[in-house]
Amino acid sequence: MAAVHYLKDYRTPDYLVRQADLTFDIGKEETRVRSRLLMTAQRAGTPLVLNGSADLLSVSLNGRLLAAEDYTLADGLLTIEGIGDESAVVEVETVIRPSENTTLMGLYESGGNLYTQCEPEGFRKITFYPDRPDVMAVFSTTIIADKTLYPVLLSNGNRVDGGELPGNRHWAKWLDPFKKPAYLFALVAGDLVRTDDTFTTQSGREVAIAFYTRAEDAGKVDFAVQSLKNAMAWDETRFGLEYDLDIYMVVAVGDFNMGAMENKGLNIFNTKYVLADSRTATDADFEGVEAVIGHEYFHNWTGNRITCRDWFQLSLKEGLTVFRDQEFSADRASRALRRIENVSALRAHQFPEDAGPTAHPVRPESYVEMNNFYTMTVYEKGAEVVRMYHTFLGEDGFQKGMKRYVERHDGQAVTCDDFLAAMADANSFDFNGFERWYSQAGTPVLDVTGRLNEAGDYVLTVRQHIPDTPGQSGKQPVLLPLKVALFGSEQGAFGEKIAFDYQGRRCDEAVLAVSAAEQEFVLAGVGRAAVPSLLRGFSAPVILNFAYSDEDLAVLLAADDDAFVRWEAGQTLYRRAIAANEAALAAGAPLPEHHALFSAVEYVLEADIPPAFKALLLQVPSESEWWTGRRDIEPLRVYRAREALLDELAGRFANEIGRLRLLAREREENSGLAAPYEYHPEQAGWRRLRNAARALAVRAEPKMVDFIALEYGAMAHNMTHEWGMLQAVNHSSSEKRNQLLARFAEKFAGEALVMDKYFSLIAASHRADTPQQVAAALRHPAFSLKNPNKARSLLGAFSRNIPHFHAADGSGYAFLADRIIEIDGFNPQTAARLVQAFNICEYLAAGPRALMRAQVARIAAGPGLSKDVGEIVAKILES
Ligand code: TRP
Ligand code: ZN
Repeated sequence: MAAVHYLKDYRTPDYLVRQADLTFDIGKEETRVRSRLLMTAQRAGTPLVLNGSADLLSVSLNGRLLAAEDYTLADGLLTIEGIGDESAVVEVETVIRPSENTTLMGLYESGGNLYTQCEPEGFRKITFYPDRPDVMAVFSTTIIADKTLYPVLLSNGNRVDGGELPGNRHWAKWLDPFKKPAYLFALVAGDLVRTDDTFTTQSGREVAIAFYTRAEDAGKVDFAVQSLKNAMAWDETRFGLEYDLDIYMVVAVGDFNMGAMENKGLNIFNTKYVLADSRTATDADFEGVEAVIGHEYFHNWTGNRITCRDWFQLSLKEGLTVFRDQEFSADRASRALRRIENVSALRAHQFPEDAGPTAHPVRPESYVEMNNFYTMTVYEKGAEVVRMYHTFLGEDGFQKGMKRYVERHDGQAVTCDDFLAAMADANSFDFNGFERWYSQAGTPVLDVTGRLNEAGDYVLTVRQHIPDTPGQSGKQPVLLPLKVALFGSEQGAFGEKIAFDYQGRRCDEAVLAVSAAEQEFVLAGVGRAAVPSLLRGFSAPVILNFAYSDEDLAVLLAADDDAFVRWEAGQTLYRRAIAANEAALAAGAPLPEHHALFSAVEYVLEADIPPAFKALLLQVPSESEWWTGRRDIEPLRVYRAREALLDELAGRFANEIGRLRLLAREREENSGLAAPYEYHPEQAGWRRLRNAARALAVRAEPKMVDFIALEYGAMAHNMTHEWGMLQAVNHSSSEKRNQLLARFAEKFAGEALVMDKYFSLIAASHRADTPQQVAAALRHPAFSLKNPNKARSLLGAFSRNIPHFHAADGSGYAFLADRIIEIDGFNPQTAARLVQAFNICEYLAAGPRALMRAQVARIAAGPGLSKDVGEIVAKILES
């Protein structure tokens, strides 16, 4: 069994690195890496231990070449005893083979170019080094390579020197003046095209911006460049944080394990999050680019200047930086919508994680493979934790805390506790109980009741409990902000906001500090019937239960001025309807009528609501969102219950939906914008509504598929249109659907990112022949399991395809397991993400559970099992 690392074992480093000078000599097959480290001992007499898995050629200490008996090399550790000295110069020479590196960690080859990915522990695949984030050094990088194959040579910081060499070779030297951990090291060498721009900081410094892509992609970076400039300006105005180097580089690569990486001065991006034009990218893709460009830029302060003491503290930089990118996107456009999208994603993906076998706290206590902890919990729940500071302190108080954090810790590697202390100290705020958000896994559940007492006060009783998670039980209540308001429900006062007294002030909204297992809050001087608007803005990442009547929900849906609560009222009605259908299916009874939901949907369809918000209100919770936290799940029954509801809504409101579709189309086309069909938040809203309406319309009238097939060419003005049409017809059993998809694949055969969309459509289809089509896709010339975007597009979509993944004979589980075993052989990180589709195992009903468990056991027993996948499947089997 692979070694487990524990937070409780943390010890400050024995040695620090003051300076690291690296030389990469890039050859045809091999790259030689020479490293010269200036090290200082922190504890006298301790051996020097370096991490590394590259082939070691030589080690010298203070200029003396070490003989084999002068050091030991075992289990990825190079140990040199008896250094004794206060400082030492260690020189290490290694050799690596980037084109054989299929893990996409360390130095690897993609399309003939070389790229690095070092976070969290990839640097040790390049050379021997104390590879931990609390060792921060100044790095210089010299790169030597063939001029024709590798005309572009990049590393962190500023280019300080370079020149020509005999034999058609050249070199460049880069110096990063800011000390940094090895995980932020980056190197890129290859044949790339550069797109330039500049940004002038608030203090008047001019920063060069350089985006590097393959030549054929250069026309697709403008939006990302503009997003970067917007992000740089935003961080100055909202956070007072300015960029610190003379150049900011972004490199796009098609083979990448995640979204992007914040290497100091040299970000490396998955092409998916940097290339976008309206022909190939949907509006949602544009929004993704803006968010990820912002995210990596914001890391320059929250992550790079101030980094993590150890990997258990990952959320210190990731939670905070996600919060910052969410706020950036919200300030750019549609704050209320962005909030609902974030909450929806959190509930669809993080809540299941927190209720499943891999549940872990925002600050995990142990790991086998750190790559497995770049999770929704660390990132998205971590961002919610940061947002709660903001909710308690307000923007001014939060910024005071940020200022204190930066002043105290610039240039340091610190902990989540340090962040909490900065927030608390700068505001003299008592965060007692809040620290538990970092140490306790599981989504807190709030059971709330409300009543009007004889004095006319509205009394809220809040009970809090946090469910047990693997390895954790008996949890303590956390401190959390519960934002509330009251609305009138009676004739004459319907939907009016009702003022109340709280903590000596008359207010129409309050932030209640919930901190105990049971607590009462008195909103005084109300004097009439009221509907409570709870958890406004989703003020805490909790599950809130309140026994709303259908009438209460109608009030909130129609009248609440908080977009989240308004949306949530609709979601509650959808969830109740799915539950009722499911119960009926289980009992073999006829499906019930959902009167409250029908009138809510009727209201939504007709009311004057911004288009993107209307589309969100029409979004029915996914199966997995619906079943999170339950046991004995029958996936196919839940699927049928949800499909039946959608069919019912589509049929019942066919006329209204038809009108809406035409209106949305009209408004999109006549939006009065100078550039029709380009990404623009306002147009995007109409397109989103148009696509949502079209999908429902096809559901009600399958013949529409023929019409779409006929008009496809004329209607496809951009990728959002194409995507909307293909999604709408994707489940159709008609041959027209196949023809449309084939046309799409032919049209975009040369566009890798669009082909990803094609493969995800194939795998998401409910058609009976989807398993055969997915099998054929594996052999498609544009497909490769080696490319993570492709693997995720096809297999990720398949694992979310309820009727096929959960096929009654277990064939869907077996198919995914086979592919995971295959991918694990060359890219464990990507395999370990895909295998989490099996997290649901223990929560399934006995039949599907046994089938899924057998497949997980088969993966676990495989001869080549990686520690990445091994860690996950062990947790699933233990649950
Ligand atoms: N730190 C990166 C981010 O959040 C993501 C990241 C972590 C990553 N590990 C990685 C990217 C491995 C690629 C490969 O922005
Ligand atoms: Zn990040």
